[in-house]
Amino acid sequence: MVDLETEPSSPFIQSPEHRPKSSIIIAEGIPLIDLTPINYKDEIITNPLSIEGLVKEIGKACKEWGFFQVINHKVPLDKRERIEESSRKFFGLSLDEKLKVRRDEINLLGYFEAEHTKNVRDWKEIYDFNVQQPTFIPPSDEQSFQFQWENRWPQNPPEFREACQEYAEEVEKLAYKLMELIAMSLGLVPNRFRDFFIHNTSNIRLNHYPPCPYPHLALGLGRHKDTGVLTVLAQDDVGGLQVKRKSDGEWIQVKPIFNSFIINVGDMIQVWSNDAYESVEHRVMVNSEKDRFSIPFFLKPALYTDVKPLEELTNDRNPPKYSPINWGKFRTARMQSNFAKSNVDNLQI
Ligand code: SIN
Ligand code: FE2
Repeated sequence: MVDLETEPSSPFIQSPEHRPKSSIIIAEGIPLIDLTPINYKDEIITNPLSIEGLVKEIGKACKEWGFFQVINHKVPLDKRERIEESSRKFFGLSLDEKLKVRRDEINLLGYFEAEHTKNVRDWKEIYDFNVQQPTFIPPSDEQSFQFQWENRWPQNPPEFREACQEYAEEVEKLAYKLMELIAMSLGLVPNRFRDFFIHNTSNIRLNHYPPCPYPHLALGLGRHKDTGVLTVLAQDDVGGLQVKRKSDGEWIQVKPIFNSFIINVGDMIQVWSNDAYESVEHRVMVNSEKDRFSIPFFLKPALYTDVKPLEELTNDRNPPKYSPINWGKFRTARMQSNFAKSNVDNLQI
């Protein structure tokens, strides 16, 4: 590992204003939402009264925080534990072994050990796979589309692929259920968003943050907002995720809760809702003792989707704040690190 103290030009060093503070605020504030009222077997929700309360809670959390945690979500614990175990085993392989499934300039899926956020290197290694394969590339874009999304599965551990796919199926169901509740909280019909995901580009990322001898200088993941629609994050019991509180801009640490998921609003909900719900900055601190593992599922629309403020949510008094954003182009700009073109805040009319 690189010695950051003796190597001041190390790519891992955050500029002083972005380094973590030594005093940490543990959030009591991030809403904890019990999803018991929903029943996954039925399309329609069971008890209308408790659903109404749940929808209100979700709407409030999206507005005030852009983040919340859920319990009683029905994602089977054994499937979560299986992917967590596979992730630990995979990252435990030798670097040479992991490099066999490394992503490249064309295919952006697989292992990567040198992720940067806002031009500073993150103290972590990652593995990405897409949930829907093959990823649908619109025929009109085939020629011009410069990236491919083809999953690269490692040979080891042998159960890796199955564990990833089984978990993806479950967590995707939860994401769609949450989108129904979010739609209702905006006064929309529950299935308002469904068609955007027929050819979805959703992906799962396995994150491994190794212990870092310089947690006051580096970050596991630099400050950023999620570009997609919605993120469903499984974090382990180590902790380190921090969310920027909307009310005062303070960084708030999210306390790990066993078998819960952290949910956050992405840029595309911000655009669809015409800023009623905003995506919020977050980052990950590292520590000098423990490895940390996390597994986000990123819900993302089809490449051809033009995301724009929904007609039902705009009117003369609340005109659309964004011109249509083509998800494929927006995503490509982000992959090319063109942050000016892949930041919705810069795309406001
Ligand atoms: C992310 O923001 O993508 C990951 C957050 C985490 O590791 O907790
Ligand atoms: Fe994120």
